[in-house]
Amino acid sequence: MAIRPVLKMGHPILRQVALPVTQFGPELQSLLADMDETMRSLHGAGLAAPQIGVSQRVVIFGLEANPRYPHVAPVPYTVLINPQLTPLGDEMSEGWEGCLSVPGMRGLVPRYHRLRYQGVDPNGAPIDRTVEGFHARVVQHEVDHLDGVLYPQRIRDMRNFGFEDALLGQMTPMPD
Ligand code: NI
Repeated sequence: MAIRPVLKMGHPILRQVALPVTQFGPELQSLLADMDETMRSLHGAGLAAPQIGVSQRVVIFGLEANPRYPHVAPVPYTVLINPQLTPLGDEMSEGWEGCLSVPGMRGLVPRYHRLRYQGVDPNGAPIDRTVEGFHARVVQHEVDHLDGVLYPQRIRDMRNFGFEDALLGQMTPMPD
């Protein structure tokens, strides 16, 4: 188990389409342990395997109740492998996002308000959930990483992209 360096925007691995996981053995367990430790060390709300240089379709996310983000409902800690997203309805909502691969910055990003996600857990058991709000946002952000997309590419108006310290007071703070 180790804290791994997080790749930053511009690294070619972050632009790749990651490959599905086919082996649920010790290598996957070790990847998940590293992802977990890395995300916790940086107090992230989510992390995708490509962010630590592994181009496989694995994301982790979760957020306990946090006084820094009182308006954000907690999200259960989840390991999601080979995810598939199905938006439910056309409703989009805009929210401020950050990303451990884009440190110090925030942007206002439209996401589907409600969606269904499916995939498997580390034992290959199915996951099938319908979620909304921040939970739906975090899943869309993490799964975008698996398709080589970072949140700045989703920002509609680039005036709503900037450094966190400069944006203070203009945005609702959100976890990375
Ligand atoms: Ni990210």
